[in-house]
Amino acid sequence: MSDWYTELDSTLDQVWQLLGRAIRDPKSPLRTPVMATVGVDGAPDARVVVLRSATRSAGALEVYTDRRSKKVKDLESCPSVTICAWLPKADLQVRIKSLGTIASGSEVLPLWQSMSETARRVYGGVPAPGMLLAHPSAFGIRPDPADLAVLRFAISEIETLHLGREMHRRARFQRDNAWAGAWCAP
Ligand SMILES: Cc1cc2nc3c(=O)[nH]c(=O)nc-3n(C[C@H](O)[C@H](O)[C@H](O)COP(=O)(O)O)c2cc1C
Repeated sequence: MSDWYTELDSTLDQVWQLLGRAIRDPKSPLRTPVMATVGVDGAPDARVVVLRSATRSAGALEVYTDRRSKKVKDLESCPSVTICAWLPKADLQVRIKSLGTIASGSEVLPLWQSMSETARRVYGGVPAPGMLLAHPSAFGIRPDPADLAVLRFAISEIETLHLGREMHRRARFQRDNAWAGAWCAP
């Protein structure tokens, strides 16, 4: 449907289609969104992550990370997370507000066992993420299942901004049990 952005329902359908595509397609700009958190000191922080799963029925997203990374500490002190991306082909900005939880240890062991040796290389490592190094070569790769964490985001709100030629359309979808959408001023 080419004019999906003219109706609320089709706009939300389009977002979930794009999220589903992002999981499968490495070229999708929604595969690598910006994930924003609030730090222990109250300061905002943001970084690019890879979206690993998107489940419409549960209103949930997943990201994998090193358990020792700052974003995990941020989530432990403030679970509010916003995920944001710009999709140039769809002329669409997507902003997703959520509450994040952290899974690690035995809960993520089946995932670790399903990962290739190459994929495992980014979880673990000495010293821990963000620690100072005398030189980049002083970092040692030590894959460790104890350092894999899965961040799960329960979505509370999706906001879209479609930049159209004749007008811009901004919509806000809030999730309680079901999704409730409304247009708002761009
Ligand atoms: C394209 C791209 C994809 C990335 N994907 C991830 C990811 O899925 N998980 C992750 O922890 N870091 C990922 N990173 C690295 C983060 O952006 C960030 O530098 C790192 O996780 C440290 O962030 P933190 O100190 O805020 O925890 C990615 C970076 C880029 C450029």
